[in-house]
Amino acid sequence: MRYYDFRSDTVTQPTDHMRAMMAKAIVGDDVYEDDPTVKQLESQSAKLLGKEAALFVPSGTFGNQLAILTHTKRGDEVILGQDCHIVMHEVGAAAVISGVQLRQVQTNNGSMSVLEIEKMIRESDIHYPDTGLICVENAHSCGAVVSVKHMHKIYELAQKHGVPVHLDGARIFNAAKALDVAPTEIAACADSIMFCLSKGLCAPVGSMLVGSKDFISKARKMRKLMGGGLRQVGFLAAAGIVALEDMIEHLPVDHEHAKYLAEKLSEIDKIEVLDHRLDINMVFVKFSRELDDRFISELHEKGIKINGPENGEYRFVTHYWIDKEAIDLLVKAIKNYI
Ligand SMILES: Cc1ncc(COP(=O)(O)O)c(C=O)c1O
Repeated sequence: MRYYDFRSDTVTQPTDHMRAMMAKAIVGDDVYEDDPTVKQLESQSAKLLGKEAALFVPSGTFGNQLAILTHTKRGDEVILGQDCHIVMHEVGAAAVISGVQLRQVQTNNGSMSVLEIEKMIRESDIHYPDTGLICVENAHSCGAVVSVKHMHKIYELAQKHGVPVHLDGARIFNAAKALDVAPTEIAACADSIMFCLSKGLCAPVGSMLVGSKDFISKARKMRKLMGGGLRQVGFLAAAGIVALEDMIEHLPVDHEHAKYLAEKLSEIDKIEVLDHRLDINMVFVKFSRELDDRFISELHEKGIKINGPENGEYRFVTHYWIDKEAIDLLVKAIKNYI
């Protein structure tokens, strides 16, 4: 049975072009820095974000945690949003891998207040940890984007205090399309950026960590320490190159599809679409009454996969393999269930 999968954009399958390029990729041992396809992907990634260097990593979580490990020392404090991916969905890795403490700022649609961040930056005091890093997420996994102006204010503050900024840009290209800016403008507000090849861009595996030459050369060694030094990984990098060259331009279609889905759902009684954070390819909704597990299984029987609710909200994600027909099917199935 063919399923339409709205659970996430991480479910995307590689395109035919990716599969063809993977099959004929020229590879080498990337720990020896001998893989030309990985080198090409790294240099294209750095250029795309206007930074000096980049490093292929196995996943977005790996890239974020590698950035934290490279920027900080044990006992440092990291300032970040209370609902960001690093806090909510990375298994507490920052405490385990880097031995850092996470200082969480309240967010509003994924944005942290500059004033709140400033209050949390530590002065020099024998009792205090050092503020080692500020992390920002854009696009935010709540579905909203953060403006470049706001990111710039955070970066200015961080620079004033000599604190580096890491951007969890898993969906930086979605953010750039939604904000109608070049990805370099967003990247210019951070010292390091992680972005994912494997979500809306459809590559099967991999993320990139991008930054200065010095930062990336330190991160390369830390990647080895974390067990992420891969050998003939050019096969995956080949798909990553196609992701950058072909797939970024498709993202606005996913955003339009999300808006189309939101519009259709908002016509249904008993559904509230959270359209104040409908910037990218994610639609969040609340139902006026709690739905039981039959909701998900009934949709499944109709060839539709969705996740269960988180904090009372259901999330539907559009991506390359979701077309209008799939959206109409989902809307019809929800209407029927209700
Ligand atoms: C904002 C954000 N950051 C990081 C990640 C982690 O990526 P991965 O699943 O490749 O570890 C995700 C994954 O969904 C994400 O949404």
